[in-house]
Amino acid sequence: MLNDIESVLVSEKEIDEICTRIANSINADYKDSGKKLVLICILKGSLAFTCELMKKITLPVEIDFMKVSSYGSKTVSSGVINIHLDIKRDDMEDVDFIIIEDIVDSGRTLSHLVRYLKERGANSVRTCTMLDKPDRRKVEFVPDYSGKVIPDKFVVGFGLDYDEKYRNLPFVGILKPEVWGGQ
Ligand code: PRP
Repeated sequence: MLNDIESVLVSEKEIDEICTRIANSINADYKDSGKKLVLICILKGSLAFTCELMKKITLPVEIDFMKVSSYGSKTVSSGVINIHLDIKRDDMEDVDFIIIEDIVDSGRTLSHLVRYLKERGANSVRTCTMLDKPDRRKVEFVPDYSGKVIPDKFVVGFGLDYDEKYRNLPFVGILKPEVWGGQ
């Protein structure tokens, strides 16, 4: 696996610092909310980030999961989001949600999910991403908590995949173009 990596973009140490910084902000922002705090891990990419982040949150917090995908080809996304795994709750009005993502690209997934959860009656919905690629935005979207803004490179590791591989790398690296057929 390591031979396929051109360079490390976000080291294990930096990921740890990102998680500490964001968790501290969440701890401060929600300490007096009076509502249930629920992190929604968006499968599969945000699994590793959610795991690291939740360990640093000192408030009572629930973890839930959703799985979504863009309709059709990812490269020519239509903007339609399919929900493959949804949350099941009857207490939406008592919940402050934070949606956890590994990366924001076009912005379509998170802007759709924020709207969706608000329509279902959530007390509040915020978003948190480890990585942000603003150069790729197709819809206006700014995450509430952001780990690191990165250039438009093919990145893998710490949850991010290419063809379902590399998710288990402990850092985020740039994939060699010859591996994915780019330049
Ligand atoms: C990635 C990522 C986000 C989404 C971001 O998921 O984890 O969910 O794409 O893209 P957007 O901002 O353009 O909507 P992917 O569909 O690759 O699934 P995965 O997490 O299972 O790898």
